[in-house]
Amino acid sequence: MIIKSAEFVCSNTQVSKLPPPSLPEYAFIGRSNVGKSSLINMLTGKKGLAKTSQTPGKTQLINHFQINNNWFLVDLPGYGFARVSKTSAEKWGKFIRQYLSKRENLQCVMVLVDSRLEPQKIDLQFIDSLGELGLPFVIVFTKSDKQSKGKTAQNVQLFKNELLKTWEEVPQLFVTSAEDKSGREELLEFIDSVNQS
Ligand code: GTP
Ligand code: MG
Repeated sequence: MIIKSAEFVCSNTQVSKLPPPSLPEYAFIGRSNVGKSSLINMLTGKKGLAKTSQTPGKTQLINHFQINNNWFLVDLPGYGFARVSKTSAEKWGKFIRQYLSKRENLQCVMVLVDSRLEPQKIDLQFIDSLGELGLPFVIVFTKSDKQSKGKTAQNVQLFKNELLKTWEEVPQLFVTSAEDKSGREELLEFIDSVNQS
């Protein structure tokens, strides 16, 4: 897929105020600081489109972007940010669950996982909750430029092993880097194929 346009649409804290579900939608979600906003900028080729930061907890709203006037890309706040209070973590959970369970045009949840880490409980738990909601998802490993290909492959394999403890099949997996743009074509092709189907 060629990205011809990528425009910011709106930021929201309320599911009731989201843009009309008129286009197929893909939501990017994962732990705080995993690289969601960076990946969105890499995919769209627009550096400042989604705000990035070295400090976790940068994205606090549901941000909608419209791509090629044809589909919505959504940047969500990260989960598992230790420095937010318990109440705001609960608020996050409720808000995201509401978004995930109510958004009728949501085609696929893109779950971002840090490729440098061995499987983390919080990611596996989140993935299980997607299963409970019956939502299609794929796993997108981020920051693959930060270590050797071998190390990335090892962590991907460990993650697959963990998934196979609860899932019969492993979902589609993508290895990406916002830095060297690896995985870009594969992810865009995937989105294109879902949009065509
Ligand atoms: P929150 O909005 O806080 O949940 O974070 P986020 O998941 O949107 O992460 P963000 O894109 O802001 O990136 C966090 C940090 O990781 C920034 O310092 C990025 O520059 C860095 N980063 C993100 N992706 C990559 C990558 O692929 N490679 C490298 N080397 N650094 C990355
Ligand atoms: Mg962000």
